[in-house]
Amino acid sequence: LYSDFSLEKNCTEFSGINIYNAVNDFGTPLILYSEKRIRENVKRIINAFMPYNISIHFAMKANYNPYILNLLKSLGCGIDAANQNEAMLALKLGFNNNDVVSTPNNLDREGLAFLINNGIKINYDHLGQYKLVQDLNPEFVSFRINPGIGMGEFKEITTAGENVKFGISYDEALKSYKYARDHGAKRFGIHMMTGSNVLSAKFFKESSRIFFNIAANISKKLDISFDYLDLGGGFGVPYRDNDPDFDIKAAAGYILENFENFNCIFNNSDLIIEPGRYIIADSAILISRITSIKNYGHTIIGTDASMNTLIRIPLYGAYHKIYIAGKCSDGKLISADIVGQACENTDYIARNIKIPSVNDGDIVIISNAGAYIMSMASNYNLLARPAEAIILDGNLRLIKKRESVDDMLKTFYP
Ligand code: LLP
Repeated sequence: LYSDFSLEKNCTEFSGINIYNAVNDFGTPLILYSEKRIRENVKRIINAFMPYNISIHFAMKANYNPYILNLLKSLGCGIDAANQNEAMLALKLGFNNNDVVSTPNNLDREGLAFLINNGIKINYDHLGQYKLVQDLNPEFVSFRINPGIGMGEFKEITTAGENVKFGISYDEALKSYKYARDHGAKRFGIHMMTGSNVLSAKFFKESSRIFFNIAANISKKLDISFDYLDLGGGFGVPYRDNDPDFDIKAAAGYILENFENFNCIFNNSDLIIEPGRYIIADSAILISRITSIKNYGHTIIGTDASMNTLIRIPLYGAYHKIYIAGKCSDGKLISADIVGQACENTDYIARNIKIPSVNDGDIVIISNAGAYIMSMASNYNLLARPAEAIILDGNLRLIKKRESVDDMLKTFYP
């Protein structure tokens, strides 16, 4: 479940490295990645879709550390960029523009124009976005479909179905593709993204079936073919003890089975997926240190990891499993809240959890810290975001230093 993290070594070892050594080298808070685990996660996706050669476009929004993006490039992944800035980073790192797609939401003309001028394929949210840049004659046009169903761990990260801001219905899509075709678009793609952290493989059976049906109908009615069919991301990762593992093999099987039913229509189409979380979430732990313990009847443990880094906990009520280094096997448990250093009462990392009894200076380990942690972190309260390091073959390598106050102030003009 929590890969590479050695419960046997009493929670003091991660991917073959002693956690105290990492803390000595780089301090806390620190996000520590296992390169081995990232490689395994990518491999598992590729294998699940074999013999079909799936195109993996890593959703950069989950993690934009350049070292990690370079690693994913070396493993054959492309990128899904949320906007022109993420696309710019991909290009700077040497990703081929053919290996970058972009799925922006409400982007302005300047952003869309950057993508078009750099030959990056856009999944337009709706016709209005295409019309904004129609005069640039984009040859390639793809729209984001809302297939009418969505699923996500929280309603906040469910991105299709009812009451979502994303995408268009089948009827609207038909009109939009017709418009684009009649105004000079020559090549087409089609996209959906239905929600994040889905642990049910069955959901992908249903969503892909609807999606391929929609694509086939549009293809037939308008006599256009799709260069790609992009199913988005959403493959889940277990966060809680009782969460099932996501059966990627089953999900891939369902998707490919549905795809093959349309063989004659999609024989020249690539299948794209845009996983973010599945590739990176469980490859990392967030290491923090206990800075104070308050106990007036109820124990509140303060750490140096705060809501500026763990915003997804107060934002969605997300849960991250917590361990205390060196105390994994401690039988005596206490009830406590774990909080950060931010001046806000939403700054809880966990409420009323059972943990071993702790002392000042103990190391707190927060699991599944690879996805949507660093990429969503802020400098609220002028708190520094964590440093980041990665482990490969027993070596520790710093891949982002912790910000100093000067670093954080660099772009201001006092
Ligand atoms: N493609 C598109 C167009 C997306 O919007 C997303 C995520 C993905 C791919 C990747 O989805 P994944 O495979 O990672 O589930 N901040 C939230 C997650 C929001 C996801 C939004 N879109 C969190 O912390 O859980």
